[in-house]
Amino acid sequence: MRAVDLIQKKRDGQELTSSEIEWLVEGYVSGTVPDYQMSAFAMAVYFKGMTTREISDLTMKMVKTGQEFDLSAIDGVKVDKHSTGGVGDKVTLILAPLVASFGVPVAKMSGRGLGHTGGTIDKLESIKGYQVERSQEAFINQVQDIGVSVIGQSDQLVKADKLLYALRDVTATVDTIPLIASSVMSKKIAAGADAILLDVTVGEGAFMKTVDEARELAQTMVDLGKAVGRKTVAVITDMSQPLGRAIGNRLEILEALEILQGQGRQDITHFICELAQIMLGLANVNKTVEEVRQHLENGQALAKFEDMVQAQGGDLKDLYRPVNVDHVVEIPAQETGIISALPAMEFGLYAMRLGAGRAVKSDDLDYETGIVFEKKIGDSVQKGEIVAKVYTNGKISPQLVTDFQKYVKINDRVKSLREIIEIIS
Ligand code: URA
Repeated sequence: MRAVDLIQKKRDGQELTSSEIEWLVEGYVSGTVPDYQMSAFAMAVYFKGMTTREISDLTMKMVKTGQEFDLSAIDGVKVDKHSTGGVGDKVTLILAPLVASFGVPVAKMSGRGLGHTGGTIDKLESIKGYQVERSQEAFINQVQDIGVSVIGQSDQLVKADKLLYALRDVTATVDTIPLIASSVMSKKIAAGADAILLDVTVGEGAFMKTVDEARELAQTMVDLGKAVGRKTVAVITDMSQPLGRAIGNRLEILEALEILQGQGRQDITHFICELAQIMLGLANVNKTVEEVRQHLENGQALAKFEDMVQAQGGDLKDLYRPVNVDHVVEIPAQETGIISALPAMEFGLYAMRLGAGRAVKSDDLDYETGIVFEKKIGDSVQKGEIVAKVYTNGKISPQLVTDFQKYVKINDRVKSLREIIEIIS
């Protein structure tokens, strides 16, 4: 076979056979298919799509390019969760210990952030001492002992995705359903959980811009999971504004602690309790949202989070320390009204420029910097009232404020938002 023929076949809108997909994936991982041909192939997929059969073949061939985790040593139904990317998305930090506090084991591998999206692993690494790299044995033992572990994605897991995701990121081929579905599901299948909750984000700050696209991606992934015997549910969730109050690594850890203590904003707290309810249901533990919330209010979820931090080497004293930055710049509202738009992508990029995110993979992060919103969509503001605070170690200038203000839209009314737009199972 020749890569050029397979690229041409896809370019012309034809369906590739299983053996052609296998040849391409194996060739790419072994180096016989170079980056430039794989990126041409990814672009052909972007324009011509893939059939359900092709996506399924691509996913399973990708799984085979790395280690497959066997979690059978852990008792109970192991549940996993994955988000397709968000801004200010600290959900895993709360959801994993919350679900574990009900006795349902959570063994989760997470990734790093890139561009406008944040990564759970970067947030956890902002906790002094927290180790994100663990052997499979240590990972499994910890979940057996305390019920929860969140670690960085093993280098051995789905090698094809590691290579292909980096390539897609620099060739404008990330936001296409066949490649997102195979990327996410190959990792989830290889990671070995029995049940999977997929958070498919939609809106300005997400890869999927419309609910119809998000629904198609969600259904594709749910079908892939079910086809290999994993209970899979997807929720379509709103990413038109940043999630919760904070964007930035330590700032998000501090917000997660607030939520874990039952003192978070009502909207994100309710949203996370709903996700926890679904995850628990996947493990046959049926609870009301109110019963879930009690574990935030009575400290059980927080205790699990602290157990996890300690088990992975994190310093509990440092955990609660406020952020340490040179400047905190207040952003006043320019008029009186109701906040009607806070575009997630723009604020994700703004936080990235403060050092909270990476423009390219090799960038170092400044864990302390970021944004805390005092107001979110639907909140009323008076002219001059503080909408947000910017935490920076950089130079301060009037532009820092005006650049922020130009994205804050204030109106006299606002359309209502639903955090969970739809559930697909
Ligand atoms: N998240 C992933 O893991 N892969 C994608 O392709 C997009 C989002």
